[in-house]
Amino acid sequence: MSTSPRHLLTLEEFSTREILDLLALAAKIKKSPARYGSALRGQCLAMIFDKSSTRTRVSFEVGMAQLGGHALYLNGNDLQLGRGETVGDTAKVLSRFVQGIMIRTFAHSTVEELARHSEVPVINGLTDSHHPCQILADLQTIQEHFKKLKGLRLVFVGDGNNVAHSLMIGAAKTGMHFKLVCPKGYEPDASILRSAQQEGRKTGGSIEVVRKVEGSAKGADAVYTDVWTSMGQEAEKAERLRDFQGYQIDERLMAESPKAIFLHCLPAHRGEEVSAGVMDGKKAKVWDEAENRLHAQKALLVTLMAKGKF
Ligand code: CP
Ligand code: NVA
Repeated sequence: MSTSPRHLLTLEEFSTREILDLLALAAKIKKSPARYGSALRGQCLAMIFDKSSTRTRVSFEVGMAQLGGHALYLNGNDLQLGRGETVGDTAKVLSRFVQGIMIRTFAHSTVEELARHSEVPVINGLTDSHHPCQILADLQTIQEHFKKLKGLRLVFVGDGNNVAHSLMIGAAKTGMHFKLVCPKGYEPDASILRSAQQEGRKTGGSIEVVRKVEGSAKGADAVYTDVWTSMGQEAEKAERLRDFQGYQIDERLMAESPKAIFLHCLPAHRGEEVSAGVMDGKKAKVWDEAENRLHAQKALLVTLMAKGKF
């Protein structure tokens, strides 16, 4: 009898305990990578990319190799998907060849459809509305720095986008206080916000959305931003540049909270969402954050594909 596989589509499917366990495993893997060198021996991960990537592609590919497995880079346009084969049929076929599928695409419904038809775990490597793998690395980075998550204050200044959505889910799950600071018209999706707020009430965390940048970083433990124009929104670039004026994270904003670290999922645009001084300054933990994509995702791969053996 086959059991249905476990997927990571939004982070909502993981409990607080499971997220904390995964972060603990990520820390162990980071400390002693060789101990996990054959955790996924002989297993293959198919990676479908409909959008560009540096970190996600390289960290998953290197991660699979370090776990004793193999990753296949598949450009969506080169697959028959690009010529009209259905997502469901693609999922069924890939399930006969590989033990896991990672996908980066546009509509979140594509990932849901893939998961519905897949017999192996599906991992969301970014959609227009979610980026859960990024948040696992972010939580690991924050936890490494502050030795805890619960009760910490995370401030995100910028677009209420995929990264912001996943951050609010991750923050709510781990009992953090999350504040999103955005201009009018760039608020997060109302239903994702509502469900994160509900979750926050259970864990002792909180989620709020405000407009005013000045004063917003007071008391923050981490200040986070992302690009103003996400992949797929290139036609809106000029309008977005105008609308986000005043929403840059600069030295003055960081000075509101001397203890705060600066985070960015990357790629960064110095002079737009972050000043060069902050991006390249001492408070920035962005390179640790990028490195942690590798460790957090190895923990995820082991959890989903080695089926709890570690
Ligand atoms: N942060 C992130 O997902 O980076 P890539 O787009 O380079 O994968
Ligand atoms: N919000 C950005 C994140 C890139 C990692 C995008 O979707 O392009």
